[in-house]
Amino acid sequence: MSSLFDFDAKPDSYAVMGSPISHSKSPLIHTEFARQTQQRLNYSAIQVDAGGFEQAVGNFRANGGKGLNITVPFKQEAWEFVDQRSERAIQAGAVNTISFNDDGDCIGDNTDGVGLVRDLMENHAIELASKRILILGAGGAVRGVLGPMLMQQPAEIIIANRTEEKAVALANEFNRGEQLRGCGFQSIGDQPFDIIINGTAASLAGDLPPIPTTAISETTCCYDMMYGKEPTVFMAWASEHGAEKVLDGLGMLVEQAAESFFIWRGVRPETGEVIASVKAAL
Ligand code: ATR
Repeated sequence: MSSLFDFDAKPDSYAVMGSPISHSKSPLIHTEFARQTQQRLNYSAIQVDAGGFEQAVGNFRANGGKGLNITVPFKQEAWEFVDQRSERAIQAGAVNTISFNDDGDCIGDNTDGVGLVRDLMENHAIELASKRILILGAGGAVRGVLGPMLMQQPAEIIIANRTEEKAVALANEFNRGEQLRGCGFQSIGDQPFDIIINGTAASLAGDLPPIPTTAISETTCCYDMMYGKEPTVFMAWASEHGAEKVLDGLGMLVEQAAESFFIWRGVRPETGEVIASVKAAL
């Protein structure tokens, strides 16, 4: 590992791989972290086309690369590819952080769930313990966050999905008895939740999942795992229904990056100022 003052050493090299990648905020975030913690490193964005993942990782490693973030659509492929997986990567079924150790081993981790939990608890002072939580969606994004959320001991998590079988299967896989249930949107029930998290891809298309209005009250915190310059349709729906806290996923993005940075460099950056600068750059 080279520090700021090893003027002779080449800076350590990191990157994010995905497709599309040109709008990734990760280079900005990690460059800010490096400046703030005085770590000498380069961080770039690498476009990888379908079928080219293994080759791209091989080239990166052969050039002395130290670590990678992996984003859509390669997180499952990264899980298959790595030599060792952390417990949270195993649970998530996906890898978003790769480290190459000195023996040449490739180690996979997943920082998405920790990123969401830290954003909620530390940046927004929202406790998850003993809370009733509704999660919308049952794809990779939701699978990635369930383990760290369950560790906080919520009273109940309901996973609701357009394709009901996927929600039921995901709940069964995590197997937490009455603490976790999967269902379709029509079976959410009529009690308001403390927290609703949108983990569907609906916001990308400007769609709103069919959430019953009985699920929300003025004390509900609504969180969209997506983010953008403008509030998502889910966030607009939450505000219209008087939700007390309406949040986007920008904090999660920066927190998962901070956890990756910590894995690679052993230092934990301050995220508040970085969240503000990424927001300003949207
Ligand atoms: P990701 O890895 O980002 O989670 P995914 O595995 O394709 O992506 O999952 C997308 C999720 O968004 C799924 O839960 C999907 O519902 P289905 O399982 O029924 O396909 C959900 N989703 C996508 N578009 C949606 C929409 N317009 N309304 C409601 N749910 C939607």
